[in-house]
Amino acid sequence: MGTLLVTGGAGFIGSNFVHHVLEHTDHTVIVLDKLTYAGNAASLAGLPEDRVRLVEGDIADAALVDELFGQVDAVVHYAAESHNDNSLHDPRPFLDTNIIGTYTLLEAARKHDKRFHHISTDEVYGDLELDDPARFTEDTPYNPSSPYSSTKAGSDLLVRAWVRSFGVKATISNCSNNYGPYQHVEKFIPRQITNVLRGIRPKLYGKGENVRDWIHADDHSSAVLTILDKGVIGETYLIGADGEKDNKSVVELILALSGQPTDAYDHVTDRAGHDMRYAIDSTKLRTELGWTPRYQDFEAGLKATIDWYRENETWWAPAKDGVEAFYASKGQ
Ligand SMILES: NC(=O)c1ccc[n+]([C@@H]2O[C@H](COP(=O)([O-])OP(=O)(O)OC[C@H]3O[C@@H](n4cnc5c(N)ncnc54)[C@H](O)[C@@H]3O)[C@@H](O)[C@H]2O)c1
Repeated sequence: MGTLLVTGGAGFIGSNFVHHVLEHTDHTVIVLDKLTYAGNAASLAGLPEDRVRLVEGDIADAALVDELFGQVDAVVHYAAESHNDNSLHDPRPFLDTNIIGTYTLLEAARKHDKRFHHISTDEVYGDLELDDPARFTEDTPYNPSSPYSSTKAGSDLLVRAWVRSFGVKATISNCSNNYGPYQHVEKFIPRQITNVLRGIRPKLYGKGENVRDWIHADDHSSAVLTILDKGVIGETYLIGADGEKDNKSVVELILALSGQPTDAYDHVTDRAGHDMRYAIDSTKLRTELGWTPRYQDFEAGLKATIDWYRENETWWAPAKDGVEAFYASKGQ
């Protein structure tokens, strides 16, 4: 039993992790979150106050970070600017948080000699061709496409350097695309689910052939706990659940599960530089650390996610109109 500092714990995957930790361990949690447009204190509502404390602040604030590192046993770093589309319009916050923020945390991990786990994405590896049978492994060369993925790649390399140069006790995980509750409506799956719930036709970028390797956020959380517990310092672990689906199939499945005709969607302008396919080979995590995903059935996980958005409109409704206005201004 110990205390974890979870950066970005009011965001999508970070809040899922906090819920998971409270349910499956005896740890207490301090969340450090700037509560940007993507952070939402309501994602932590109802959790026991004697086990979770939310500190509103910036991971690039060295004094605050120093104070918090002195109060915890380990750190799990989720905080990031995370949306590719935003990074194409205004890259600067991505550099501030993903690069300078991660650097600030690493310096504190070094000073306080704290166990540090860095959360990253498979997007650092670039993309694969649709007809390429290959999947990403821990040995795939970095080849990021967007300002988002290049700043995440940069943050991964900083972590590796702080392990090698300063002996920081860090591990890294690169995960595929997550779905589940508490995801901001700007992102693909919640945007389409909430469009259907609002009676708006879903929007598909381009032809919708792009393939993503979907994993439920709760499985991401169990993988991270496994790495915190058993991971080897300095190692990188890929997290994935064999969930490859093209975007068109996902939209059609959302419509089918919502009782709508499966062709009731519109094609819109594609994202600039849109990565074609991501696919994760998570053999190392499964064989060396013994992790397995719980949500093997994408359709069942998606159905549960649709139900969550239907039942939690008060959580997502305040952001919906602004997001749709933004996309409309881009013809998307
Ligand atoms: N969403 C995915 O499918 C996915 C897949 C693999 C990896 N990841 C990684 O997982 C992490 C979390 O992603 P997410 O989808 O939950 O993102 P998110 O945008 O939903 O949440 C990010 C959180 O970080 C907070 N934050 C942003 N800047 C901050 C700062 N300077 N200081 C403190 N807090 C700050 C935000 O307020 C928000 O709560 C990111 O590192 C992302 O790269 C995401």
